[in-house]
Formats: sequence, structure tokens, C-alpha cells
Amino acid sequence: MTESNNNLNKIDSKKFFSITYGCQMNENDTERLAGQLRCLGYEEGQDMESADLIFINTCCVRESAENKIYGKIGELKRLKSNNPNLIVGVTGCMAQKNREKLFKRAPHIDFILGTHNVHQLIKVVKDVEESKQQVLAVIDSAEEMPSSIPTARKGGVSAWVTIMYGCNNFCTYCIVPYVRGRERSREVVDIIEEIKQLSATGVKEVTLLGQNVNSYGKDNNGADFADLLAEIDKVDGIERIRYMTSHPRDMNDKVIETIKNSNKICEHFHLPIQSGCNEILKEMNRGYTVEYYKELVQKIRTALPNASITTDLIMGFPGETPDHFAETLELIKAIKYDAAYTFLYSKRSGTPAATMLNQVELSDKKKRLQALMAVQNDISLNINKSYEGKVVEVMVEGPSKSDKTRFTGRTRTNKIVIWDKQGDEATGDLINVKITKAQTWVLNGELI
Ligand code: SAH
Ligand code: SF4
Ligand code: F3S
Repeated sequence: MTESNNNLNKIDSKKFFSITYGCQMNENDTERLAGQLRCLGYEEGQDMESADLIFINTCCVRESAENKIYGKIGELKRLKSNNPNLIVGVTGCMAQKNREKLFKRAPHIDFILGTHNVHQLIKVVKDVEESKQQVLAVIDSAEEMPSSIPTARKGGVSAWVTIMYGCNNFCTYCIVPYVRGRERSREVVDIIEEIKQLSATGVKEVTLLGQNVNSYGKDNNGADFADLLAEIDKVDGIERIRYMTSHPRDMNDKVIETIKNSNKICEHFHLPIQSGCNEILKEMNRGYTVEYYKELVQKIRTALPNASITTDLIMGFPGETPDHFAETLELIKAIKYDAAYTFLYSKRSGTPAATMLNQVELSDKKKRLQALMAVQNDISLNINKSYEGKVVEVMVEGPSKSDKTRFTGRTRTNKIVIWDKQGDEATGDLINVKITKAQTWVLNGELI
């Protein structure tokens, strides 16, 4: 009797499997989608083969991302023909952009859910289950998303917290404002409540998410980003606060001062510059100059001498000449970033840059990328070497993926540290590690 009940339970518990591409915002959306599936009785499964529902949360920021995702969607066709009851969903930015065209390209998709419809997954899945028809849920823009969407976080000590949706900047290369809509800030009280609840469940580090966190609050004339940071700083149990992404134009003295006066906000500034050439920055509609940016970095380094600074750079924006690129190389040598995330410019149809006439050859973009990475890797290694012999505070994340006898964690400046596990250090602990050997991407150390 008991056994057959167990079997029944096993059969009853439906499994979902999710695949996420793109930025942290998408990771956080996946957690909300998963939260809603749990409300419908689905549990997270281990693999695609045994899943009753698979959703792919997509990104379309570059063509390469889209191509990879089309490949993944194609793979699901075989699973669907083996199991016709399998529900296949496509969510996120590509769903928002391509809408019903996705059904045409991949008829095995059961539902398409846009970025403004994240909170409607329960209804959409019920509709699919009941009607066995394809369901399209993509609206154009949104009133504010409900603040309390059920969220199934991966657990652990770190959590993403979305503080605002959308982007108003319309950088000329970028698709994000078209697929995420205009800026909408969540209320301070809702954000604080969420963080208090996270803290109560053992979360010690929160990363605040938005495409341009520094313009938080501009849409509702309430608290600004610095005010929000100061409020979060007071939440008991939270030990580290991170945020991304900062737009250099909107980073200001008040935010720098707030970070300086706080013990919890980490000294890591991710300030995407995109190009080191004023002409290109203007064409990109970034709203700042190289001179302004350098002054900003100077202010940060004066206020917080140990801060780390990272950036994003695009190679081969339309019209970028070898001379323009040389200015970018000069800039990265002058700033000395801890790390730079580099991308080949990718044409996104519908954006102004896609129709600019002077597109750069792929081979030139690739050459520039390599030249830039060679310079940047040296700089990163040199900065990391300055950590050798020093003792740093690390928040323990857990065993290293490749070697379970070693543990990893991060410094406040967001550097990955690896050490031999000694004793009882556990996920979430703040420990002191002495750095013994620096590499380009990681610091090796020993517990002291
Ligand atoms: N809101 C953030 C970043 C969003 S996208 C910001 O403004 O910084 C992340 C990065 O992808 C960008 O910083 C940019 O470097 C890169 N990116 C965006 N659109 C791109 C495109 N069309 N081609 C290549 N890289 C792009
Ligand atoms: Fe895209 Fe620019 Fe907005 Fe960032 S700030 S999401 S790069 S439009
Ligand atoms: Fe990609 Fe959408 Fe994020 S396009 S980078 S997943 S906002």
C-alpha cells in the first residue's frame, strides 16, 4: 500500500527544467518563473530527458547569443517527439523581440512569455495544460510588475534582488530598451522587505540588479540610488551589498560617499565604458566623454583607494577606425582595470547602429579583441600580483567545481579566491585568506 502510494506520488510530482542565457536580470527572472511553477506542483528536475516542462529564458543582446539559443530550442524537438506531453516554453528577451515568429520557426514550442509577462506564468501553463494549444503572452509595456512574485531561489548565501526594470538610455547599439521597456523602479519598502526576508533565511550577500542602477528612483521622484543603498545598509544580517550595472554618466558623488560611509557595500565598481574614443562614444549615445570618465575614476580612487574597477568594451562599433581603437587601448592602459569584459559589436536590427553605413569587418573586430585582451590580461595579472602576501576578507562560496578539496569565495573587490579546505569553514562565513599566488582570473591563498 505504502509502496504504491509512493509510486503514485512519484508519478504525480511533475518536473521542470530551466535553461537561462543572458544577464543576472534573466537569472533572477528564472527564479521567479521557477517559483510560479512550484505553485503549480512542479519540482525542479535534474535533466531535460525526464522533465515534464522545459523553459528556456533567452537573451538577444548579441547575435551569437540568439544563434546558440536557436540551436538549443532545436534540440528540444527530439524530446518533444519522444514525449508529446512535454511542455516547451520560451521566455525572456528573445521571446519579447520575436514573439509569434518563434512558433513559425519552431512549432514544437508550447508557450512564449515576454519580459513584461513574467508574473503570468501560472496562468499560461494552466492554459497550455488545459487547451493543449500554443499560448502567446507578450505585451508591449508594463505597469509595474507585482512586487511579490513567488521566487524559487537556488538557496545559498547570495541572492539577486531586482530594484528596477527596463532602460531609458537607448545606446545606439543596444536592444535592451526595446525588449525590457522603460525604467520602472520598485518601491524602497518592497525592496527592503524582500531583503529582510532573505536575511531571515540566511542570505548574507545581495546583488541589486538593474540595467542602470544609478538612475534608480528617477521615475518616481522618491529615494535615489544612494538613499536606497543607505537603507539596505541597515538591514541586519546582510554583510555584503553589490549592485550592477552602473552607467558612468549617472554615477555620482552621493553614491561614492554612501559607499565610503558603509561597511557592507563592496568596493567594486563595474563601470562599462564601451569605447575609449569620444567620437565613438558620441555615436553610441553614451552621454559622457573619456575626460569625464577618467575624472570619475579618479574620484572613486581618491575616496576608496582599494576599490576594484571593471568595465565592458565593444570592439568594432560602426565607424571605429584603427586610430579610434588605439585610443581605447590607451584608455585601458591609463585606467588599469581589474578586468574588462569584451564583446564584438553585433548588429541588432531595430537599433540605430544597425543601419550605420560604415560597419567594421568581422576579421578586424576579432584582431582588435585579441590585441585588447593581451594588454588587459597583463594589467589584470599585475593588479592581482599586488595582492600577493596580503590578507583579504573572503566570503566562502563552497567547494571548487573542479577540485572538491579546494574552496572558493570572493573578496569584497569581487576577486575569486581559491584555497585548500582546512577545517570547518562553511558557505557564507567571512574568513581571512593570505594570498600566495596570483593569476589573471583567480587568487590562490591559504587560510590564516
Ligand atoms: N546595462 C548595462 C549592460 C547591458 S548589456 C550597461 O549599460 O552597462 C551588457 C553589455 O553587452 C554592454 O555593456 C555592452 O558592452 C554589450 N553589448 C550590448 N549590446 C551589444 C551589441 N549590439 N554588440 C556587442 N556588445 C553589446
Ligand atoms: Fe543597453 Fe545602454 Fe541601456 Fe545598458 S544603458 S542596457 S547598454 S541601452
Ligand atoms: Fe540579454 Fe535581455 Fe539581459 S537581452 S543581457 S537577457 S536584458
